[in-house]
Amino acid sequence: MDITVAVLDPAVDAPCAALADRFITGPLTDADAIAQLVEASRVTTYEIEHIDVASLRRLNEAGHHILPSPDVLAVVQDKLVQRELFAHAGLPGPRFVAFDPEDHSCLTRFGLPAVQKVRRGGYDGRGVAILRDAEQERIPGPSLLEELVDIRTELAVLVVRGIDGTTVSYDPVEMVFDPAANICTHVLAPAEIDAAMTREAVRVAEAAVEALGGVGVHGVELFLDSRDRILVNEIAPRPHNSGHYTIEACVTSQFEQHLRAVLGLPLGSCETLAAAAMINLLGAHGYRGATVVEGLERALALSGVSLHLYGKRTCVAGRKMGHITAVAADPTVAVERAQAAAAALIVRGEDRVERTVEA
Ligand SMILES: Nc1ncnc2c1ncn2[C@@H]1O[C@H](COP(=O)(O)OP(=O)(O)OP(=O)(O)O)[C@@H](O)[C@H]1O
Ligand SMILES: [Mg+2]
Repeated sequence: MDITVAVLDPAVDAPCAALADRFITGPLTDADAIAQLVEASRVTTYEIEHIDVASLRRLNEAGHHILPSPDVLAVVQDKLVQRELFAHAGLPGPRFVAFDPEDHSCLTRFGLPAVQKVRRGGYDGRGVAILRDAEQERIPGPSLLEELVDIRTELAVLVVRGIDGTTVSYDPVEMVFDPAANICTHVLAPAEIDAAMTREAVRVAEAAVEALGGVGVHGVELFLDSRDRILVNEIAPRPHNSGHYTIEACVTSQFEQHLRAVLGLPLGSCETLAAAAMINLLGAHGYRGATVVEGLERALALSGVSLHLYGKRTCVAGRKMGHITAVAADPTVAVERAQAAAAALIVRGEDRVERTVEA
């Protein structure tokens, strides 16, 4: 679209460094680095939540365009504030209270089992713990407690909201999690739910983004529970892991939609052209060091498979290093193709690590 892009990233060898028209290195919490980026840009957007909000607010008040607004970021950075906002808007969600992990009586009053979440700084399941008994170790720091939802399926709806409030959404997708690591292993698009459930998921997701006042692409994470209720989990106000499949399977990718939205251009079509399965490529356990990719040719030889390697120079076990998307007319075939490609590929660090270190 011939848009000139400047990027701020903490790593000198960040994957985007080679692609950006201008690249600034610096921490996302550094006021000067943030100011450099924002002052160089007509519109500034972000695709990570851990940014210094005070700096963004100052720049916004000085007249710079930052979308979604720093207020949106302030809400999603604090899981308690986010829950309160959804509750205030009348959106369905798990029961919750503010929680000080030192406070035993709070836990007893709330009841077990419960889910502890730290208010700030968690991602990819870090900062989330299921508490099953009162003696169990907790994560330190200000937190909230949530009802442990009896989840049938985790859904995500990508909601795109323009500057004028126009909203379009993609079909709900299913996010499949590794129960031990709490990390999303693969995404199925579209989710195998009926038309009424699809409408309800989209309705709730759009209402949540409206309540937040976001502009751009939002990944709205939802739970479908065993009683067929749709509950809001959380919103990522940015292109989302659950939307990577849109590059191959939809008329407009989530990335293009995000640019259209924050630049005030007409939003694109969210139509799905094929069923898709997306698998995250995580750094293999037992290794670390410079990134090594094995099985590339075998994976690419499979029909319907696209490979995205992010170009991260060092590989840590469990780190998201890339993803595979497979498309097909039939969702089952898409999953089989993606799984075959994932089985053919290993992304790992160059050096073997001692088992004891890994444990
Ligand atoms: N109230 C709950 N009841 C049951 N399971 C939950 C609950 N809250 C979270 N989980 C599980 O933990 C996962 C991670 O929770 P959450 O999305 O809040 O954390 P996160 O660290 O921000 O995750 P991510 O960065 O992967 O989106 C959820 O996707 C879900 O599998
Ligand atoms: Mg989440």
